[in-house]
This record gives sequence, structure tokens and C-alpha cells, in this order.
Amino acid sequence: MTAGRLADRVALVTGAARGQGRSHAVRLAEEGADIIAIDVATDLPGVPYPQATPDDLAETVRLVEQHGRRIAAFQADVRDGAALAAAVDAGVGRFGRLDVVCANAGVNDPAPTATMSEEVWSLVVDVDLSGVWRTCKAAIPHLITGGYGGAIVITSSAAGLKGYANIAHYTAAKHGVNGLMKSLAQELAPHQIRVNSVNPTQVDTPMIMNDPMFALFCPDIDHPTRDDFAPISQAMHLLPIPWVEPGDVSSAVAFLASDEARYVTGVALPIDAGNVVKKG
Ligand SMILES: NC(=O)c1ccc[n+]([C@@H]2O[C@H](COP(=O)([O-])OP(=O)(O)OC[C@H]3O[C@@H](n4cnc5c(N)ncnc54)[C@H](O)[C@@H]3O)[C@@H](O)[C@H]2O)c1
Repeated sequence: MTAGRLADRVALVTGAARGQGRSHAVRLAEEGADIIAIDVATDLPGVPYPQATPDDLAETVRLVEQHGRRIAAFQADVRDGAALAAAVDAGVGRFGRLDVVCANAGVNDPAPTATMSEEVWSLVVDVDLSGVWRTCKAAIPHLITGGYGGAIVITSSAAGLKGYANIAHYTAAKHGVNGLMKSLAQELAPHQIRVNSVNPTQVDTPMIMNDPMFALFCPDIDHPTRDDFAPISQAMHLLPIPWVEPGDVSSAVAFLASDEARYVTGVALPIDAGNVVKKG
């Protein structure tokens, strides 16, 4: 049995098929947790880059099992409260408890605010804000019933702490989950359940490594590439790096989920190479 910081606990991760969600699932498994992995694992109409696939979710299963931990994986959309709750209930039914929740699933779809369609606004807010609320809503009864306390880690963003042009829906949703986090910290403290957020800067995942995001950050370049994006992204940081890796965020998630953070609640933790405090 793994003697990690989360030995024999159970962690729920949404958006677990790839990117940061997969990295969190694997890191928490390394720390000894069994994993309930949820992902839509299909493209979402309106989002201009592909979402994960069932094969991606299967790869997360393989990687978690490689660490000797159990995993229950479900295809569910965080916009569908009933399907989400059914998946969470089934996972907790299989493993018998729930200790950690990573509300991580999210999408983006850049557009100028004044001309953004109602559909695009609603889609991003529904996944990135309401989807986090639905995830917490499905999980909280299990956390409370367990009676062991617990930890919720919400994935916000540097865009939850500062403004970005042309992603107002995303920025509003990420500020919104920081408000949700603070309200939940108030409500759940009597149950020894801590609620925090991680607020990453750019992370090297398919969410930003795609043409619409390169165009957002490099408006003066025709058909910008990852190489064009790198120096522009790096200029946003104090530390001389263009982006962080998913594992950098997973390290923060693992800390916040563990007993090392037993008195840390209501905190928005930037993993941002100094993005939020950089002047200009
Ligand atoms: N990549 C970045 O630069 C960055 C920076 C700050 C915050 N974030 C946030 O990190 C989180 C993870 O993103 P990522 O960088 O790993 O991107 P990603 O696109 O690689 O992963 C997102 C995952 O969420 C899943 N997903 C999307 N919509 C879903 C839905 N409706 N229901 C269930 N699953 C859904 C996707 O299939 C995918 O597996 C998101 O909340 C994102 O907003 C990303």
C-alpha cells in the first residue's frame, strides 16, 4: 500500500481525461488516493478546440492503475447535474468514501465582449462556474456524511484574480469560482472541510496550445504559433518562463488536499510565475 500524504483516501477529479485533470489524478494516486475520474470526453459544440476523448480517459485509468491505485472513470458533462451526481454517487458507492474534490473541468472560447454571442457566454459560464458549483453540490453530501473532514480544490485561474481582454466570460467565471470557494469555506468549516482554489497562469495543455488562443495572445501576428506565443506569454511573468507544467499545479493541489494544509481554507493560491503581481 502506498504510504503517501493521501494514503487510502478517495479523490474526485473532473476534467480528468487529459491536461491538468489527468496530472492531478495521477499525482493524487501517487500520494495514495483512489480516484473517481469524470470527463465529458467528447467535443462541445461551440468550443473552438477539441476536448478529450474516451481514449484519453482510458489512458488516465491506465496511469492511475500503474501506481497501484483504483480508479472509477465516468463520462459525464458538468453541465448535466443529474449525470454528474449519478457518476459521483457511483464512484463513492464503489470506494466507500470521499475525501478530496478537484473541480477542474473548464473550457474557453475567446471573443470580444461586445460582440460575443449569448451562446458562447452561456456555454463558458455554464461549464466553468455553474459546473464547479454542480460538482461541489454532488460531492458535499458525501464529504459531510463521511465525517472525516475533507478538502475541495477548485481550479480557478490567474483570470480569477485579474482581468483579461476578449475572455470576459472566462474571467467572470473564474472570479466567480473564487467567490464560490470563499462561500463554501464558510459553510463547510464546521465539518472540517477546507475549500481553496488554485489560480494558474498559462499551463502547457491543449486548452491554450491551440490556434484561437495563439491569436488571442498574439493579435499582431498572422497565424501565430506556439513559438510566437512563448515570448509574449513569458512577458506576463516575473519568472523567466512562458508557461507552467500541469505537474506544477498538481503539486499545489496535492498540498492543499493533504493534512499539511489542515488549517488552510478560503485561500486562492496562484501558481503563476508572478503573473498576478507583475506591474504593467
Ligand atoms: N491551460 C491553461 O493555461 C489554464 C490556466 C489557468 C486555468 N486553467 C483551468 O484549468 C482547468 C483544466 O484545464 P486544462 O488546462 O487541463 O485544459 P484541457 O482542455 O487540457 O482539459 C480540460 C478537460 O476538461 C474536460 N471538459 C471540458 N468540458 C467539460 C464538461 N463540460 N464536463 C466535463 N469535462 C469537461 C475536457 O474534456 C478536458 O479533458 C480548467 O478549469 C481551465 O480553465 C487552465
